[in-house]
Amino acid sequence: MELDGKRIVLGVTGGVAAYKAAHLLRLLTGAGARVQVVMTESATRFVTPVTFQALSGQPVFVDPWDARMANNMAHIDLSRAADAILVAPASANFLARVAQGLADDLLTALVLARDCPLLVAPAMNRQMWENPATRRNMATLAGDGVLCLGPAAGAQACGETGEGRMLEPEALLEALCAFFTPKVLAGRRVLLTAGPTFEPIDPVRGMTNRSSGRMGYAIAQAAARAGAAVALVSGPVALPAPPGVERIDVETALDMHREVMARAGAVDVFIGVAAVADYRPAQVAAQKLKKELGGPPVIELVHNPDILAEVAALPNAPFCVGFAAESEQLEVYAERKRQRKNIPLIVGNLIQDGFGGEANRIILFDAQGAHPLPVASKAQLARQLVEHLARLLEKR
Ligand code: C5P
Repeated sequence: MELDGKRIVLGVTGGVAAYKAAHLLRLLTGAGARVQVVMTESATRFVTPVTFQALSGQPVFVDPWDARMANNMAHIDLSRAADAILVAPASANFLARVAQGLADDLLTALVLARDCPLLVAPAMNRQMWENPATRRNMATLAGDGVLCLGPAAGAQACGETGEGRMLEPEALLEALCAFFTPKVLAGRRVLLTAGPTFEPIDPVRGMTNRSSGRMGYAIAQAAARAGAAVALVSGPVALPAPPGVERIDVETALDMHREVMARAGAVDVFIGVAAVADYRPAQVAAQKLKKELGGPPVIELVHNPDILAEVAALPNAPFCVGFAAESEQLEVYAERKRQRKNIPLIVGNLIQDGFGGEANRIILFDAQGAHPLPVASKAQLARQLVEHLARLLEKR
């Protein structure tokens, strides 16, 4: 999992968004992190320590004079044991105290004594956020290397609307995962296709391929976490766009072709993950085909463009990665496809291993030969693919 083995101190300060910190804690532990919660006194007015204790399976610390640490040095012990401190929500008052270097409660003492990165997710009324004092404090914190996540704009608990909402727990989890990902694709522009295409026959019917889009979306996310600027041309799927990824929605292979060709000349990497329909109906009926009009209709098909092969044939072609989903003889067909499309890297998988599910088994084929990866989640495989890709780009 993304945060396997990571030790996180989750600081919770006094703001109404503290109720979302319980959900964030669930997401962090669900991603494999070991989380130690430390609360300020005012945070306990919003949510009790019992909630966080039950969710983290760890005692929650609030009081600097807590005698549970044998050496009475909770502020030192807790920060030494952490890979990162994430404070969410971070109130205006907490941020002001950290900016000043105060250590007047356990959480601020822990932050001052840290030797690990500090990430804060501010949450406050929009005018508190805009106040020159808060602006000054945030500038000080940025100068001190504190990473600020958010805030977002939108409706606030006070009834006002503006900037100051804490980022949603899902976005904070994503930011933390990205934070821990080595930036092996920093400065690279990556273009992907994902999902199926839909080729209309008439206004209600069409032809499509089976593709959940999960593998392509996982690769887009892994590339973004690794520091790339990512654009994802996506056929119709029921997936949210990964944070930080530019998503271009298309329906047909011709739409996908147009959107890809408009961008392919300006990217470093093109990854064709989409299950593009090889054919489309020669004509799209303007009206619904009626059953009453005799026997089954004969639909004439014409070839769709091969997007990957066209991108690979560009004079200034980006580094091209293709996919080969086969039902048999994967090694033979995938390598043959790699050579036919003239691309440096192809990802092969057996259809029965990967379709629709969370896990997959893939083999990478490049000029050096075949590199089988162990069965893993699509997210994990996407990470490994991105690392392999980064190594090949380095060698170019
Ligand atoms: O040609 P075939 O479908 O076997 O190859 C699969 C690879 O080619 C995938 O990477 C897929 O995204 C890409 N492809 C494409 N345009 C097509 C057909 C396939 O980009 N029309």
